[in-house]
This record gives sequence, C-alpha cells and structure tokens, in this order.
Amino acid sequence: MNPGIVVVGAGGHAKVCIELLRDMGLPVAFCVGGVEDPDLCAGVLVLKGDEHLERLIKEGYSRAFIALGSNLLREKLAQQVESLGFQLVKAISPHAVVSPSAKLGSGVAIMAGAIINAEASIGRLAIVNTGATVDHDCTIGDVTHIAPQCALAGNVTVGSKTFLGVGTKVIPKIDIGESVILGAGSVVVRNIQSHTTAVGVPAKVIKTV
Ligand SMILES: CC(C)(COP(=O)(O)OP(=O)(O)OC[C@H]1O[C@@H](n2cnc3c(N)ncnc32)[C@H](O)[C@@H]1OP(=O)(O)O)[C@@H](O)C(=O)NCCC(=O)NCCS
Repeated sequence: MNPGIVVVGAGGHAKVCIELLRDMGLPVAFCVGGVEDPDLCAGVLVLKGDEHLERLIKEGYSRAFIALGSNLLREKLAQQVESLGFQLVKAISPHAVVSPSAKLGSGVAIMAGAIINAEASIGRLAIVNTGATVDHDCTIGDVTHIAPQCALAGNVTVGSKTFLGVGTKVIPKIDIGESVILGAGSVVVRNIQSHTTAVGVPAKVIKTV
C-alpha cells in the first residue's frame, strides 16, 4: 500500500486542503483534476482526467481526499472514488479546535481557526471553513459547506448539501433545511426551508428551487 493521499481537485480549495494535510504530517501524492487545471497545485503534480483514479488504486494508493468546494461535485466524486475502493481521509487543521465530544464524518475538511464545540456533529464530506464556529449540540448534514467566518450558535441544525455563505450568523435552535443557499453576511433568526436561497439581515427567502 502506498501511504500517499490522492487529492481530487486542483483549484483554490484544493490548495488550502493540501497545505492542511501537510500540516497534519500526511503525505500528498498527486492531485487529480480536469484539463483546465494548472500542472501543479501547491507544488503537487496534477494528473488530468478521472481515469487516473483507476490506475492509482491499481498502483496501491488507497487514501483520497475530495477537495472540491462545490457540494454537488464533492458528493459525485466521493461516490466515484469510494466505488473504486479508496478510503476518504479527514482533513482537520492542527490550528482548529475540535471538542473531544464532537463527531466528525469521513472526508470532512475542518480548516484553520475553525472551532467545533461540545457534542456537535459534522456530517461526512462537510466543510467547516476558515475561522467558522459551530457551537455545542449543532448538527451539520452531509456534504454541507460552512464558509469562512460563519458563526452558528448552540443547537442549530443544518441539512445536507446546504451552503452557508461567508460570515453567515445563526441564532440558537434554528433549523436550516437541505440544499439551502444562504448569502454572504446573512443573519438567520427563523427556520429556513429546504431547497431555498435566503439572504440578508434578517435572512429572507428570495428563491425556491
Ligand atoms: C446569495 C448568492 C449565492 C447569490 O445568489 P443568486 O441566486 O445568484 O442571486 P443574485 O446575485 O441574482 O441576487 C439576487 C438578489 O439578492 C441580492 N443578494 C445577493 N447576495 C446577497 C447577500 N449576500 N446579501 C444580501 N443580498 C444579496 C442581490 O443584490 C439581488 O437583489 P436585487 O434582486 O434587489 O437586485 C451570492 O450573492 C452570495 O452571497 N454568495 C456567497 C458566496 C460565498 O460566501 N462564498 C464563499 C466561498 S468559500
């Protein structure tokens, strides 16, 4: 088995994730990206085309990290690499603070400065981005992205595949549905239904999909 991690994605989010994996002392072997991606991502060679994944698993690489900011793409590529037999690693910055009673799913990215407090639960493939705080007893669904500097008070529930734009604030005990988009700087003071986009202070729904 080769211990090197295969990073799927080669954009800005991948760059941050590679540096984070290195901070954890984990070796990054290759990125797998698209034809439009650069040749190197944070100094790591970018192999262009998903067909490389099949070759890499045959060559003994078994650990992968999906470094794509888009929730839909992250979910799709995770299914693909897991069906090939890769195991998804967790990327948890040594500069994050994670409560020992918090639960983190496979493939999560917990960036520098993030704080996850007591008994919070973070679903698989979720991103808690730079400086975001998720307080006690929050539940964050699978494949959800909490952007930089968001602040979730205690007992907040966020569904799967939801995106909280940079700096979103949420008061305690709020339920935010699945596949919701919250605009940058929103302040959420009422529950938000699934499949909606909401923006502003206080956040109001502007679109339903
Ligand atoms: C909400 C968002 C997703 C845009 O959604 P959209 O469906 O493309 O909406 P539009 O840009 O067409 O804007 C629709 C209306 O909402 C308003 N709006 C958009 N984003 C807003 C925000 N964050 N706060 C307040 N109002 C906002 C627009 O001004 C527009 O108002 P108008 O109809 O009166 O002109 C986007 O503006 C946003 O905030 N993205 C967050 C990005 C981010 O945080 N990225 C972090 C990456 S790690």
